[in-house]
Amino acid sequence: ADETIKVMKQQVGIAAANRVSSDSIVGLGTGSTTAYAIQHLGDRLKSGDLNNIKGIPTSFQASVLAKQYGIPLTTLDEVSKIDIAIDGADEVDPHKNLIKGGGAAHTREKVVDALADQFIVVVDQSKLVEALGTTFALPVEVLPMAIAPVTDALKKLGGEPELRMGVKKDGPVITDQGNMILDVTFEAIADPATLESTINNIPGVLENGLFVGLADLILIGEIVEGQPCVR
Ligand code: A5P
Repeated sequence: ADETIKVMKQQVGIAAANRVSSDSIVGLGTGSTTAYAIQHLGDRLKSGDLNNIKGIPTSFQASVLAKQYGIPLTTLDEVSKIDIAIDGADEVDPHKNLIKGGGAAHTREKVVDALADQFIVVVDQSKLVEALGTTFALPVEVLPMAIAPVTDALKKLGGEPELRMGVKKDGPVITDQGNMILDVTFEAIADPATLESTINNIPGVLENGLFVGLADLILIGEIVEGQPCVR
């Protein structure tokens, strides 16, 4: 099953990278699916199939991969718009709304993905849900000094917040910006747009993982009759 998911992620990452044209500014998302897209962008640059692109990374990890695969980087101080962004997701609903932040990168991802003329989401079929919040807790990035009051405020909204703890580290996960993550379990999220802005209005919240109305295209990797394909 792990191997099957890997193949689906790879196919969909390659399909997204093939939609990038020369002379463009490309938002580089975070996660294992986008990593295949970054790798394929590098391959296309090397083969001469693609020229003169610049990447805007959404995380430290995305910038590491971009350097590894030979993609020149730029920043939002240097360029005023992003032509295309490729990013993964943790859940996708039938309205192309997303939950992101499984990799604790959703704050910078939202800045980059929202600026892109075209935002392409790359997922395998396991990410598709009828309603957001049913399989994945909502990540919320929080200033460390505000963890207690933000936890209380999220409970008042009907959520069950849990501080994300590190792997191979004692203590909480620290984001690229030096903050912490609360993973908030809700019963299915009925109105993602309202919840997105309500949570972001809590003082001390930097950003939550609801991406509403931002995605232009969802590319889905699946296995049909034993063969990997992209829908
Ligand atoms: C990062 O914070 C997330 O938004 C990722 O985009 C998401 O976790 C997808 O990761 P995978 O492609 O590894 O499933």
